[in-house]
Amino acid sequence: MKKIPVIIDCDPGHDDMMALVLAYGSNKLDIRAVTTVAGNNTIENTTRNALNVLNYIGAKDVPVAKGFQDPIVRTHKAVMERMAAARRETMTEEQRKEQSKITGALAHGVTGLDGFSFPENNPKQIEPIRAVEMMAKVLRESQEKVTIIPTGPLTNVGLLIRAFPDLLPKIERISLMGGTSEFVLTRPFMEFNTLVDPEATKIVFESGVPITMYGYDVTYRVLCGVDTIDRMEALGNQTGKMAAALLRFFMERHNKNLKQLHLKDVTPIHDACAVAGVIDPSLVTESRMLHVDIETSGQYFDGATICDYAGCLGLPANVEVVYNMDTPRFLDMLVESAGNCL
Ligand code: BDR
Ligand code: CA
Repeated sequence: MKKIPVIIDCDPGHDDMMALVLAYGSNKLDIRAVTTVAGNNTIENTTRNALNVLNYIGAKDVPVAKGFQDPIVRTHKAVMERMAAARRETMTEEQRKEQSKITGALAHGVTGLDGFSFPENNPKQIEPIRAVEMMAKVLRESQEKVTIIPTGPLTNVGLLIRAFPDLLPKIERISLMGGTSEFVLTRPFMEFNTLVDPEATKIVFESGVPITMYGYDVTYRVLCGVDTIDRMEALGNQTGKMAAALLRFFMERHNKNLKQLHLKDVTPIHDACAVAGVIDPSLVTESRMLHVDIETSGQYFDGATICDYAGCLGLPANVEVVYNMDTPRFLDMLVESAGNCL
């Protein structure tokens, strides 16, 4: 069967790790490149984490190119301050300190992938070109259209769209993890990836490229429990053990830091949803075509994905917003893919 060509743009991140495992282990995708972006952690750390994960799961030939530290318009530092302010009511003093050092520390720890020690001296190296150039190269050289799967802030993809508009027809679809239409986590309508780089998000959503959005509306419905993590561990291969250790850490962080969600011993695996829908679109059981705009100049809501349910704006639908997926099949797919890796 012909594989679907994809570029994965990520900021690992525990759920980004699972997105990479799913993409590689599914055997349905041809991963032409992995590009990295700052988000859950600094660009140095997310890039190191991507290299570590890919090497560990056996994806040694997948090229990795490094992206940018700062969002397109704002600074990484300013983003951290906004995030700390956004959740100040729900954080302890200790959590506030951790959050003020690293953007995604509360969920992913100080390395961005706390909970597992990868071997030192990883032979896998980054490519000599930057993420945006790598994406452009893949698109240019591809005979078929390529699907882009962003699982971090949209900085690289936004820059790609601005720098190489001639390559837009080569993009099949952007299947992204980000946004939310109603879910309240940090602030109403706010999700981490779109909050970090609102301007990039706006560029992407206005690009005219078909977009499928896997936001909090769906990713907090599709939850992974202890049983699935146990199944991964029981696979007995090194990927299964690594994934299980990291997901246990992620679950613990949700138990501890996201009490307002009333989740117990379950974890979302946000980013893997955007990969799963490309592998098998029939996993999506509920979605709506909506016009979605991005707030970039508000007092509270920069980065919010404004989903026009009622068509009040009278503007054409630009995004397929996903609301539900077949959770048991999704979780089975994760376990099976981990089993196909090293
Ligand atoms: C998104 O933010 C990060 O914490 C995750 O990796 C995911 O991409 C969820 O809001
Ligand atoms: Ca991510």
